[in-house]
Amino acid sequence: MMRSDDTPITLDLFADETPTTPGLTEQIGEQAFVLRGFALPWLERLLPALEAVLLAAPFRQMVTPGGFTMSVALSSCGALGWTTDRSGYRYTAHDPQTGQPWPDMPTVFRELAQAAAQQAHFEHFEPDACLINRYVPGARMSLHQDKNERCLSAPIVSMSLGLPAVFLFGGFERSDKSLRVPLFHGDIVIWGGVDRLRYHGVLPLKQGQHPKLGVQRINLTFRTAG
Ligand code: SIN
Ligand code: FE2
Repeated sequence: MMRSDDTPITLDLFADETPTTPGLTEQIGEQAFVLRGFALPWLERLLPALEAVLLAAPFRQMVTPGGFTMSVALSSCGALGWTTDRSGYRYTAHDPQTGQPWPDMPTVFRELAQAAAQQAHFEHFEPDACLINRYVPGARMSLHQDKNERCLSAPIVSMSLGLPAVFLFGGFERSDKSLRVPLFHGDIVIWGGVDRLRYHGVLPLKQGQHPKLGVQRINLTFRTAG
């Protein structure tokens, strides 16, 4: 692989800085895709909208039903927000921390999620939930299936911002071997249809400094939950 100035890209030495090739689509399953850099042209509109959402519903660390505090901090916007506490995982219409409805899903969020879904051949995607995950170095997401949604016919649209991470895309059993997919700022992963219930997760985030987002990775996950 060469850059336009003909200097070779040294993948192993500069793995964390390796830019994605915007516009490239990688197929990771029958109905699962990585759209490289798809979000980049939208970020000028998206990042201020994200900041406003986070002012109304700040990141917080939630507790799993098993009593563990998640290393990833969460927030949500849209009609429904995913939450967890000692009594289980569920979607709620209100932010349990403020008692207020979750902030509206900004138009730019919905439009981008729909454009990405369409690019991956999922027509008429109507997300009503956007989960916002914040990873700091060391934070991870263990293998799980997304199955709290009422509508399993809609895909999951998952957008990466900030520091790179390794996304694990597995099979239908937790013990199935998983694919390791490096994800960078602006990449979008979409899985649905026959791949909708695949196990997935994120390896512990490595130290780093992203020029726009600093020492963190933010993941936006769009779903049709209700
Ligand atoms: C998730 O599965 O909710 C998050 C995936 C990611 O952070 O890429
Ligand atoms: Fe998930």
